[in-house]
Amino acid sequence: MKRKHSFAAILSAIGMAALAVACSSGNTAAPESTDTLRGASQGHFQIGVALPTRALNNKEASAIAAKHFNRVVAENEMKWDTIEPQEGKFNFAPGDQLVAFAQKNGMAVHGHCLVWHSQTPAWVFRGEDGKQVTKEVLLKRLKNHITAVLTHYKGKVATWDVVNEAFNDDGTLRRSQWSNILGPDFIKTAFEMAREVDPDITLIYNDYSMPNDSKRAGIIKYINEANKDKKVIDGIGLQGHWDLNYPNAELAERTIKECAATGCRLVVSELDLNTNRGFRNSGRGLERVEGANDANISDMNRALRDRYAEIFKIFCKYQDSIDAVTVWGIADNYSWIRGEPLLFDSKLQAKPAVDAVIKVLNEAPKKKSDKGFDFFGLF
Ligand code: XIL
Repeated sequence: MKRKHSFAAILSAIGMAALAVACSSGNTAAPESTDTLRGASQGHFQIGVALPTRALNNKEASAIAAKHFNRVVAENEMKWDTIEPQEGKFNFAPGDQLVAFAQKNGMAVHGHCLVWHSQTPAWVFRGEDGKQVTKEVLLKRLKNHITAVLTHYKGKVATWDVVNEAFNDDGTLRRSQWSNILGPDFIKTAFEMAREVDPDITLIYNDYSMPNDSKRAGIIKYINEANKDKKVIDGIGLQGHWDLNYPNAELAERTIKECAATGCRLVVSELDLNTNRGFRNSGRGLERVEGANDANISDMNRALRDRYAEIFKIFCKYQDSIDAVTVWGIADNYSWIRGEPLLFDSKLQAKPAVDAVIKVLNEAPKKKSDKGFDFFGLF
């Protein structure tokens, strides 16, 4: 018995030494099976998934997450309304549960999100008298929130969406309580506050409809101005709430190229493909049918397989700029939208899209540059 134990101890020591060597040599990743998404994605970009607490608490769903993904983001649990529901009263427990899960399974955690017009409690913008707060008060609350959250997750969460969805489709600044009270500088200010608390994390601006030319132009202009003298915004999150047709390959590539030209790192942060927008597979490729409904789609899984493969090929083509691709939900029954937008179905079965994406990742050449996020030496 004793001998057996000491043999195991030796083996474990060798394992630890190997791990130490792997970690000390920078981005060297332990080889993983290439028949999972997380294994196949090595050398390209991290592959992430949004998990709400109820997915984390579901054995099957969380097992799929750990098997196929090496990056997680809280679907709601790190938003202001959960983390600071009342002024100065912080609730980190749901976020901490996700961090513990990630650490146990060798996954990076992405933080979402510090400043947003949505899922932010009313108290943030109101004084005790019920009236709108002054700029000074709101800045103080913002700083308190950012400082508390980033201090709590220091060393555990390497990348953060600092500001989420601050622009309109026409490229102008969205009217929100943030922009109304603080003015357009609120975005830059939030990034500066975050940088001051933790200089080591990657700070991201995250938004949807990035393929919309006017919206993208407005965001890029803001980022370039903010970064003129020194880098304030490190990354751009392209949410990727896309569908079977939109954006087409040309537009997706243009979007990625123009965003990468800012010098920011890129992530595809909330990928899902809306299957309810009226498309059919004509046999000549997917075609838009105005006013059509799902009944026109003969084989949604086939359409999704081809479309996921198409966009992952594009992500691989631009992988020197893209550090992570994250899907917004583990399976269709966890999705925030109706339909069949994700890689796993409502019975938690892998769709044909999973194998297709794995194949694309395995066949694509690996990343040439070693630029990219430093995930505390994890990857
Ligand atoms: C969504 C969640 O998925 C839902 O559960 C919640 O009710 C609303 O928010 N853009 C974002 C995400 O940045 O935070 C949103 O998540 C989806 C759109």
